[in-house]
Amino acid sequence: MKNVIQSYTDFHKSKSSGHLYPTEWLIRTLLGSYPQLDFDNSKFRNSKLLDIGFGDGRNFMLFDNCGADIHGVEISKDICDLVYKKFENQMKLELRVGRNSNIPFEDNFFDFAIASSSCYYVDEGTVFADNINEINRILRPNGWFIANFPLFNKDYPSINESFILENNEKIDDEHIVIRNDIYGLRNGYKFWAVRNKEHLIDSIGHKFKNFSFSVLLDNFYGVQINMLVVVCQKK
Ligand SMILES: C[S@@+](CC[C@H](N)C(=O)[O-])C[C@H]1O[C@@H](n2cnc3c(N)ncnc32)[C@H](O)[C@@H]1O
Repeated sequence: MKNVIQSYTDFHKSKSSGHLYPTEWLIRTLLGSYPQLDFDNSKFRNSKLLDIGFGDGRNFMLFDNCGADIHGVEISKDICDLVYKKFENQMKLELRVGRNSNIPFEDNFFDFAIASSSCYYVDEGTVFADNINEINRILRPNGWFIANFPLFNKDYPSINESFILENNEKIDDEHIVIRNDIYGLRNGYKFWAVRNKEHLIDSIGHKFKNFSFSVLLDNFYGVQINMLVVVCQKK
């Protein structure tokens, strides 16, 4: 099995041509209006935003349209270079090589930390709490953390398990190894997978406050994706 750096670098290279479209849950969170979500994207104007694990940069246009000053972290220089090139005539970016557990920006720097399908990747020798400490460190007090997580179906037993979590290998009460990625990209990787909202609050509530949640239980052409989305603020 290739390591995570090589497989994601190859993956993003293979998809590097063509248009980019933002991730659906982020569009809904940032542009929608919901009674239980105390957030509107006017807060982005002139803000410092970090996209953690930005991938092919598909969410940058959305952040740019909302007026944010965009920074990003990815796991290889090749991925950063690919995305710099893609946007070179479109927007100013500050992209650095880093990890969830090691974000190369200073303390209290960001107004927003956004992690779209990324902050639950847990590096060997680290635990999810290390990722949370790091995300908390780079946010200013009251800065916003917006993220999604693969959600176990335990609270929704009539729904199938998320494809990514099926047949996983349990490491401990908090972490699993992915064994059944139908896209063949993440098998062997260590993930943190959340059981429900209360579990998320128990895990990060000592560092974050003002939680808003969304639950997506989605079967799309046979692929089950169960997702917990959180919007919260640094204490
Ligand atoms: C599923 S992709 C999501 C990409 C993008 N954010 C999106 O919404 O399309 C996960 C991304 O996380 C990155 N990643 C993997 N392990 C990571 C780690 N330990 N720290 C930070 N990012 C990581 C991968 O390189 C990959 O681009």
